[in-house]
Amino acid sequence: MSAPAAARLPRLLAGVEGGPLDLEAHLAIHGPVPVQPKPRRGRAGELIDTVEEAGLRGRGGAGFPTALKLHAVAGARARGRTVVVNAAEGEPASGKDQALVSIAPHLVLDGAALAAQAISASEVILCVSEDSPQSLRAATAAISERRSLNGEPAISLAAAPSGYVAGQESALVSFLNGNAAKPVFTPPMTFERGVRGRPTLLSNAETFAHLALIARHGAAWYRALGTAEHPGSTLVTLSGPVDHPGVYEIEHGATVRSLIDAAGGEREGIRAILVGGYAGTWIDGAELEAMTLDDGWLVPRQASTGAGVVILLGESACGVAEMVRVARWLAEESAGQCGPCVHGLAAVSERLEDLAWRGDADSEREVSRLAAVIRGRGACRHPDGTLRLISSALGVFAEEWADHARHGPCDACAAPPALPLPDVVRGMALEEAS
Ligand SMILES: Cc1cc2nc3c(=O)[nH]c(=O)nc-3n(C[C@H](O)[C@H](O)[C@H](O)COP(=O)(O)O)c2cc1C
Ligand code: SF4
Repeated sequence: MSAPAAARLPRLLAGVEGGPLDLEAHLAIHGPVPVQPKPRRGRAGELIDTVEEAGLRGRGGAGFPTALKLHAVAGARARGRTVVVNAAEGEPASGKDQALVSIAPHLVLDGAALAAQAISASEVILCVSEDSPQSLRAATAAISERRSLNGEPAISLAAAPSGYVAGQESALVSFLNGNAAKPVFTPPMTFERGVRGRPTLLSNAETFAHLALIARHGAAWYRALGTAEHPGSTLVTLSGPVDHPGVYEIEHGATVRSLIDAAGGEREGIRAILVGGYAGTWIDGAELEAMTLDDGWLVPRQASTGAGVVILLGESACGVAEMVRVARWLAEESAGQCGPCVHGLAAVSERLEDLAWRGDADSEREVSRLAAVIRGRGACRHPDGTLRLISSALGVFAEEWADHARHGPCDACAAPPALPLPDVVRGMALEEAS
């Protein structure tokens, strides 16, 4: 194992300036996959200890320690194990998994193959969003190239259906088992009974790419960037009024200012920052210069980097109109199977519209009442994430909600939507707000 001490970026995105990396280019940049000692019968592979030392945490949203998952699947008593790479990326404001699979597919697949070896899994399923032809093409080509590699597990490709909740762990497993891509109540957990009833390791595509680098360079190298609680680098999808919105690799703990500067700077004043995507938290623009992307700064504000989404809302946009649109979309994305989620999110979204457009000041109290009833009552965390977003929007845009309740829509309400949503919803919501 080589152990360069240099704490430099890029790591995941090394060498991609010239375009997507085929197998030859990938090996030229990252070197060969280190040979791992075969795990002894009934024992987890050594790689899991290294991942634990590195402190790798999942990049799918919840930041769960990856080594714990690896141990859980390795320790499950069953014949046959499966590895699922989650690149479904249902979050409309995120593009990092599609980008990673499109430009560095072999890094993701190296990580999946190494994880498979460490937990004695014989197959890997790479799930890519059906809405991303570019990543489907790159994944197909990469899987075919890897047939020349020795000791590879069987790798197959699945096109995950569109939809915000389709990338949720149990929804993806349900889909791979031939059922609808809808979350199901757990237990059993995926690590116990997942794809075809086998213990399954399901992690985000970026998580596997980090694992591939940890296997090559070791835990100390990994920890040379980032913070003690959240080591390493991470991919962030930045959108909003900057010259170059897109996917950036930063170290955990970097300032939002440095991210904006890397994207060419802001084109207008920033009213607020949404961190963590549509299950995330709004932060007032007044905090921008102090804001860092690490737990130490974010957790006291009930925020996290989630799946690495940062959205800047410029002062020319209306936070109220944006939230009404997004809340309606999130309510419609409910998988339609848990009452508190289906009816509750729809009711919350309607109350927000009453507050925004019809001056019904009681609606805010009603939103809080509904939230207390809905929270924690779904098969998945979709309702909880939506409520967190709405509650932070009511706080950060408090003045704007009060203004709208008193005077109705503002001039900015009719502006084109600023927050990214699938097009069909954009059209509908634009009419609604104007
Ligand atoms: C509503 C909802 C949608 C989700 N969508 C995704 C997704 O598109 N991609 C993803 O990797 N994880 C998604 N997750 C998180 C997964 O359930 C799971 O925790 C994650 O893929 C595990 O990977 P990690 O341990 O590497 O973070 C979603 C979770 C929820 C509650
Ligand atoms: S909580 Fe909502 S999104 Fe999650 S499974 Fe239930 S109905 Fe579907």
